[in-house]
Amino acid sequence: TRMLTFLGLESSCDDTAAAVVRHAPGHAPEILSSVVMGQESLHADFGGVVPEIAARAHAERIDLAAEAALAQAGVDLTGIDGVAVTAGPGLIGGVLAGVMCAKGIAAATGLPLVGVNHLAGHALTPRLTDGLEFPYLMLLVSGGHCQFLSVEGPDSFRRLGGTIDDAPGEAFDKTAKLLALPQPGGPAVEAEAAGGDPARFAFPRPLLDRPGCDLSFSGLKTALLRARDALLAAQGGITVQDRRDLCAGFQAAVADVLAEKTRRALALTGAGVLAVAGGVAANRVLRARLMAVAEGAGARFVAPPLRLCTDNAAMIAWAGIERFRLGHRDGMDLAARPRWPL
Ligand code: KG4
Ligand code: ZN
Repeated sequence: TRMLTFLGLESSCDDTAAAVVRHAPGHAPEILSSVVMGQESLHADFGGVVPEIAARAHAERIDLAAEAALAQAGVDLTGIDGVAVTAGPGLIGGVLAGVMCAKGIAAATGLPLVGVNHLAGHALTPRLTDGLEFPYLMLLVSGGHCQFLSVEGPDSFRRLGGTIDDAPGEAFDKTAKLLALPQPGGPAVEAEAAGGDPARFAFPRPLLDRPGCDLSFSGLKTALLRARDALLAAQGGITVQDRRDLCAGFQAAVADVLAEKTRRALALTGAGVLAVAGGVAANRVLRARLMAVAEGAGARFVAPPLRLCTDNAAMIAWAGIERFRLGHRDGMDLAARPRWPL
């Protein structure tokens, strides 16, 4: 129960990130630095993350990110007590780049190495930012993930349900692509939707008729494509207002489904706190709906600041500290696990 300062590394998707987090028992944890090097421009021409390009960029930059994080924190490796690294799930090439970098540092310094599940990093973030006590309900909604987790301990997660196909961020991004809006699609679709009529197009609310907390978003994408093509066939093009209405209808369907499933998850767990993470949690319409659902269930609503909701390494350093305090240590045989369920 001494003070711990951890270096965290994250490279499982399209952000190369490093951070230094310090925690003294009895005090709020402190983020001494958090460096995120995005790759958006590298993938922009391809309409999605290209694994080969991502892996190469991570391998080229992860050392730089680590150096920058240490420099910004004002510590060198002698001031670090452990190295935490995302060991999965994610794109294998990227995860490998991070794991190799962490092993290199651990081998050169003798520092303990702690492998972290990326999803655990997201799920434990509200403890870093808001000091939440266990248990709480976490809705993780991003470009790659969508699930409800009952977070019961640093290493204890109960999955209540999740998407059976696409993640909601992916659906936002595909919607933007279909409507010739810029990537990432979420903010662009939200901005268009603000001027649209959510009732003009009757988009489906997938899986609402089924019990439980599973979700589906791929049918919504198909419905949007059909609606767009019907307009193209009838009018030869789509107007500015058509586009706004399509975005508003799509966003309302996503928000309806997420709100209802969140209501169920809160009822199932009786959780007193609903926390959100992931890039889609930035959506103001969705946030307002989730806040109302939490209020209706008598639960507190917690949303960490956006830079800690999206992929970052502070959450990995923090999850590393939490695991380390439980006694977890990894050896040089720590494997990159592209599929690693919580
Ligand atoms: O968490 P994140 O940065 O990366 C991972 O996927 O792990 O999430 C990115 C996703 C993208 O799909 C992006 O379109 C979506 O979050 N997003 C949004 C908004 N801002 C970002 N979706 C809806 N509304 C937004 N305002
Ligand atoms: Zn993530």
